[in-house]
Amino acid sequence: MTSRTPATATGARGSAFAGASGGDPSGIRDEPTRPQDATANGLGSGSVPVTGITVTRHLAAAERHASLTADVRAGLTANPRELPPKWFYDATGSLLFDRITRLPEYYPTRREHAVLAANAARIATACPATTLIELGSGTSEKTRLLLDALRNAGVLRRFVPFDVDEETLLRAGQEILRSYPGTSVHAVVGDFERHLAFLPGSASGDSGSAGGVAADRRLVAFLGGTIGNLRPETRGTFLRALRDQFHDGDALLLGTDLVKDPARLVAAYDDSAGVTAAFNRNVLSVINRELDADFDLRGFAHVAAWDPENSWIEMRLRSVREQEVSVRALGLVTRFGADEQMRTEISAKFTLEGIRAELAAAGLGTSAQWTDPDGDFALTLAVPA
Ligand SMILES: C[S@@+](CC[C@H](N)C(=O)[O-])C[C@H]1O[C@@H](n2cnc3c(N)ncnc32)[C@H](O)[C@@H]1O
Repeated sequence: MTSRTPATATGARGSAFAGASGGDPSGIRDEPTRPQDATANGLGSGSVPVTGITVTRHLAAAERHASLTADVRAGLTANPRELPPKWFYDATGSLLFDRITRLPEYYPTRREHAVLAANAARIATACPATTLIELGSGTSEKTRLLLDALRNAGVLRRFVPFDVDEETLLRAGQEILRSYPGTSVHAVVGDFERHLAFLPGSASGDSGSAGGVAADRRLVAFLGGTIGNLRPETRGTFLRALRDQFHDGDALLLGTDLVKDPARLVAAYDDSAGVTAAFNRNVLSVINRELDADFDLRGFAHVAAWDPENSWIEMRLRSVREQEVSVRALGLVTRFGADEQMRTEISAKFTLEGIRAELAAAGLGTSAQWTDPDGDFALTLAVPA
């Protein structure tokens, strides 16, 4: 990956990365077994230090560049314009998201933490998984509650964090490795919309399965309400792809934000300290750096709005004046009109019945559902129907 900023990420990150320090990345064991990740280690002097972690890269530098290029070309030439939220998350974007999770207005992380804390032991009993896979893992902070529960149940053998942001992924993986001796960590740098077929333990994934029979039992955690960043039809495709990878005994633990007072929802995405605004604009920094563009970040204002018809929050960037932007890597010059808005994220909000229905449509049966006492956030445990 290009232009990493490890000093920023290491220095400013909170407790999740407390132990990270400089060093030799040679301890990484790559698994160049498929075309996508057949590139060499790819970690240069700006790489994060990890030791003892197995890493599979489906999004090495060339693949990431191709994917970003395609998304930005399509998004900037669409009407209305739209960029996929996955490109918020370079090291700075992940750092900003981590700050968002600690803001007074941003209730989802605290609520999900509460639901996990109250039910982690039940989840481990219902699905005594040897492998915990976490999609969109980020810093994996809340995930420790699940790791603790599976360890206490005496079953945990492996943790598989899976994320597009390699730097955050590897730092978090290293922290987990330190905290859970005896548990192996297999980090997957990938896009959960494209690389689910290669989940460790699935038929095409790795040695974790043999002859179509699961060698280990897997719990796939998809937390943080991240599934809400996908449109309904994409969610269906994603859930069916995940279901296709499941063996008997595997389970999905899905974290979803629930419909509530729109004022609270909008505040959670438009905090008074402006952290979400900086996070939103970070996608422009990523494009500037990786595609040689010249977005003026001061020329775009943060917008958060509730769409009751679609039951989702939209984040947009509003061009504060008429302006021209060139993206040199694409050979693209484009004009934004004054007040033109470009969508950068949707975050769908769910009902308990709606979640069960979407899972059922993908061949997944709900075996348990929990919320926090105020009914703000839900965790749903689902198994192959
Ligand atoms: C909203 S954050 C949630 C982080 C963490 N799971 C939590 O609950 O706090 C979304 C995470 O998913 C990752 N992500 C977003 N889109 C992704 C994609 N298409 N494939 C893999 N990871 C993705 C981001 O890098 C980020 O770490």
